[in-house]
This record gives sequence, structure tokens and C-alpha cells, in this order.
Amino acid sequence: MEPIHIAIDGPAGAGKSTIAKGLAQALNIIHLDTGAMYRAVTHQALQLGLDLSDPEAYGFIETLDFTFKEGELFLNQVNVETSIRNQTTTQNVSLVASHKSVRDALVKRQQAIALNQSLVMDGRDIGTVVLPKAPFKFFLTADPKTRALRRQQELLKKGESADLNFLIEDIKRRDDLDSNRLLNPLKKAPDALEIDTAQYSIIELIQYLTQIVKEG
Ligand code: DC
Repeated sequence: MEPIHIAIDGPAGAGKSTIAKGLAQALNIIHLDTGAMYRAVTHQALQLGLDLSDPEAYGFIETLDFTFKEGELFLNQVNVETSIRNQTTTQNVSLVASHKSVRDALVKRQQAIALNQSLVMDGRDIGTVVLPKAPFKFFLTADPKTRALRRQQELLKKGESADLNFLIEDIKRRDDLDSNRLLNPLKKAPDALEIDTAQYSIIELIQYLTQIVKEG
């Protein structure tokens, strides 16, 4: 049977990862969070003390092993879910994700993972570049304040605090970088279904998307 591919794109904080995770669970298929891969590369480059603005600095990606277990990213067998979501990594990831060398290397890995298995993949360029033939494409959006409030809740759960205005500005800055970069910018695929997630609960959205996929 042909693998089923579901592409979920949208800006930071639109609910992509949570919805992708719930949808994958409901369909009993894997969830691949491509943002986690860009974050892991950023985190590793920072650890190595590399110049993040140098597109030539990323040859090390070829040596990395990316494995997803129950939606969590293991980099070279180490669970990196906590470290890749810190503020420094978050602030630098858009710059790293703007390099062609980085995108080429990660898109190749993502397509290889999707080759023989059904999955829900979320990111910015899944419906347009990584899985352009995916039969199901969703583009999730929400206004910057709603997205910043969600990010603030996530940080609070981890015992971290952050000023709402700072988070709104940071989200707008990342939207701008992700939407206006030359390579694979954040863009709705023409055949993607756009959904404003501020209007619904996460449970409603997961049920709605699951129903769409099941009904084919
Ligand atoms: O979804 P996220 O916020 O964890 O993604 C982190 C960054 O990675 C985001 O600023 C944009 C970038 N990204 C990308 O350029 N392409 C993807 N497919 C996924 C994420």
C-alpha cells in the first residue's frame, strides 16, 4: 500500500506540532517535526562555536543521525527535545534555516524518512517543497498574540517566564524572516486547506483533520 503523507505548514505557534502529534496518534502513524531538525542543527552549531552566518559551516550535518521516537527527536541517539527549545536556539534558528546548504541537507533527510512510511510531517515548506505530492495538506495560522500566548504557556509549564510583548515581537520577527527568505519561504501550497486555529480547540482541530484524512 502507498504510504499516506500529511503535510502541515504554518507560522511559529500556530499549533502545528500539537495538532500533528494528535493526528499521527489518531491515525497510528509517525509524526516528524521538521522544525526540531532545524533547531537541532542550530543547537549543534552553537555548541561547536561555529559562525552561524557562514553557509559553509554546516558540513557536519552529514554526520548527524536524526531519529524520531514517539515524536521526540534523538540526535546521535541523544534525546535533544529540551535543549533545542531554549531561547538562544529559538532566536538563532531562522538564520540557520535560511542557508541553502542547511535546507538541502535537511530536505533530503526528510524525504528519505518519508519514502517508505506513512507520516504526518510539520514545518514551513512541507506542502510546497518536501512533500509536494502529499494528498493531504493543511496550512495552520493564528494571529501573533494568540501564538505568543501559547508560547508563554509552554514556557511557564517548563518553569521559565517570558514577557508577552517580547514574545509577540519575537514571533513577528521570525514570521518576517521565515516568510521573506529567498529559499523555501513559509508559503501556503495552492492545494492546502487553510485553517485559523485561534477559532477552535486543539481537540476539535485534531478531530476535524482526522475526519478529513479518514474520509480521503
Ligand atoms: O516549528 P519551529 O518553530 O520549531 O521551527 C523552528 C525554525 O525552523 C523556524 O524559525 C523556521 C525553521 N523551519 C524551516 O525553515 N522549515 C521547516 N520545514 C521547519 C522549520
